[in-house]
Amino acid sequence: MSGGGDDRVVVVGHPLVRHKLGLLRDRTTTTRDFRALMGELGAFLCYEATRELEVEPARVETPLATAAAWRVSGKKLGVVAVLRAGMGMLDAVLALVPVARVGFVGLYRDEQTLQPVEYYCKLPGDLAERDVLVLDPMLATGGSAAAALRMCRERGARRLSLLSVVAAPEGIARVRTSHPDVTIYTCAVDDGLNADGYILPGLGDAGDRLYGTR
Ligand code: PRP
Ligand code: URA
Repeated sequence: MSGGGDDRVVVVGHPLVRHKLGLLRDRTTTTRDFRALMGELGAFLCYEATRELEVEPARVETPLATAAAWRVSGKKLGVVAVLRAGMGMLDAVLALVPVARVGFVGLYRDEQTLQPVEYYCKLPGDLAERDVLVLDPMLATGGSAAAALRMCRERGARRLSLLSVVAAPEGIARVRTSHPDVTIYTCAVDDGLNADGYILPGLGDAGDRLYGTR
């Protein structure tokens, strides 16, 4: 793992992550495999983003004896999926943190202006008490992520992380400027954006590839 000297940007470089990311990028990957890979990579990002959760000692009865064990303690978790593409990470993240409360932010990027347009927001009422993981696989200009983070903050969230499978330097800079306390977890920092605001080399349109649209 490395963040290019910025400890608020965590690049998860596990060999399985690199292998799966290559498959995710591949234009010949089927919709079904793309969905599976997106979930698996979301789980790896969640694994890293929850690395510092507090645990407390416990004891459990095995069928044979008493064993020392650990339980996650301390802060509660919230997960916020940015529609649509964040849905591709949600089930896999919830498999790891099943007691997390879940919120949804609906945003699409205007194709001409590249500005995010908000169309839905349903967030848990107690975000202030939770560590919040925002899921959006693509961090391109950063406009959508910055808007989603702002919407969470407006509902009280104070401790936020962003989980993005692929990030462009432009998007990282945007989030670092507008939300400097947010840690970004990503599988790769790509080269940049093309004239249409797509990440290069990227993986194309994540929502369309997840759901077979377009
Ligand atoms: C994609 C992606 C991000 C956004 C990233 O969403 O899922 O939310 O673009 O771009 P940005 O960093 O420049 O804002 P899109 O607008 O394609 O909507 P969709 O997920 O519903 O397809
Ligand atoms: N949204 C996507 O789905 N892909 C990109 O490359 C940029 C924005």
